[in-house]
Amino acid sequence: MSDPITAVIKAPAVSTQDLLTRYTLPNYGRLSLAPVRGVGVRLFDESGREYLDFGGGVAVCSLGHCHPVIARALEEQGHTLIHCSNWYQIRGQGELGRFLVETVMEQPGKCLFCNSGAEANEALLKLARKFGHLTPKADGTPRAGIITFHNSFHGRTFGGISATAQEKVKHGFEPLLTGFTHLPYNDIPALEAAVNEDTVAILLEPVQGEGGVNLATAEFLRACERLCRKHNALLLLDEVQSGLGRTGSWRGWEPIAPEVVPDGVSWAKGIAGGFPLGAVWIRQRSIAPGNSLDICDVLGPGSHGTTYGGNPLGCAVSLAVLQEVECAGLCANAANMGRRIVDTVNGWQHPLISVARGVGLLTGIELNVAALESCGLWSADKGLASIVVTEAMMDAGLLVIAAGPAVVRMLPPLNVDEADVETALRIFRRVLDAMGGDPPKH
Ligand SMILES: Cc1ncc(COP(=O)(O)O)c(C=O)c1O
Repeated sequence: MSDPITAVIKAPAVSTQDLLTRYTLPNYGRLSLAPVRGVGVRLFDESGREYLDFGGGVAVCSLGHCHPVIARALEEQGHTLIHCSNWYQIRGQGELGRFLVETVMEQPGKCLFCNSGAEANEALLKLARKFGHLTPKADGTPRAGIITFHNSFHGRTFGGISATAQEKVKHGFEPLLTGFTHLPYNDIPALEAAVNEDTVAILLEPVQGEGGVNLATAEFLRACERLCRKHNALLLLDEVQSGLGRTGSWRGWEPIAPEVVPDGVSWAKGIAGGFPLGAVWIRQRSIAPGNSLDICDVLGPGSHGTTYGGNPLGCAVSLAVLQEVECAGLCANAANMGRRIVDTVNGWQHPLISVARGVGLLTGIELNVAALESCGLWSADKGLASIVVTEAMMDAGLLVIAAGPAVVRMLPPLNVDEADVETALRIFRRVLDAMGGDPPKH
């Protein structure tokens, strides 16, 4: 007698959607696309239909789908050593750490490896708590206050949702971790008023991805740094989406305020081009004047860890991806292609678009929701306008990613070429024109 589960999975009559509905939690509001194969910037579904993938698994596929460099690293390391425990000396972690410290950060510090962006942020949050114990308030009690910003997204763990200043990710999961203060992004007076003797860290995304592609101003990043220095608090940058070339620079904030030096940085997403890996970098500086302990040594033996984090396979793939980004000049390509997307879209002055913005290939197109509503293309009962437009693009063969209610992101691989950018823009424009509104001005 055949195993009933195998029989269900093999039966062609059962659609992928039915399988998922039956056997996986309903926590994702999935679109109908069922991808089976990818090559570069192209994705193919179960029927063989081709899509231009400008979502890239939400800024993950930094080299596109199934890049030979990734396939080779997977195969070679897969035949050598896939996993061993962090009880042992894992050379790949040292080599990847060296690349992140010397080439990416260009600042003395040390790295820790984990499996996702949320986990990387957990490590930063735990570092902040430990740091707060080591550098207490005047009365000797630990500092525990962490400031984060409206529309941020820092992951789905309890630490992540406590840090995230969006009600929708917290709702129903209370009680959350205490100690977080959420402030308006780019509001320097609000920040100055909020920092106090309990403040131990400021955590922010230099470019908010999930929150709608919102850029920090240079003044704001500098104010965060200045206040951290003044109060000996940690400046922590969540670079999970914006880091490692996505903004056209190794350091995501470099196009905005290159002189800013954070105390900690988290990465994931594009770090290994689709292989699950997260990492943090912690700066080498004393925890307090006259103290010989550096913040990069605060998380000592036994204080933090994870079984899979930084195993030989993940490190080998990540190093191969980052070396390819460097050797192929992909930061510069991301900067150029991103500028092209933003300038072209803004040049349309399309009635259904409010504005396009972004840095490098972290680009967001803000929809004119009022115009969409007035021509009957969108209403509150149809769900988010960003999803309605994302679905229309998908039907036309272009994959983009919603960010909040009114923004769609284009996050193609860092090696996307001009021809594919032109094709994507042509599809985007054609779909908007077909959706209606007043005729475009150009
Ligand atoms: C800025 C930022 N931080 C953290 C996360 C969480 O990363 P992960 O989904 O890998 O846990 C995300 C994911 O979108 C993110 O964009």
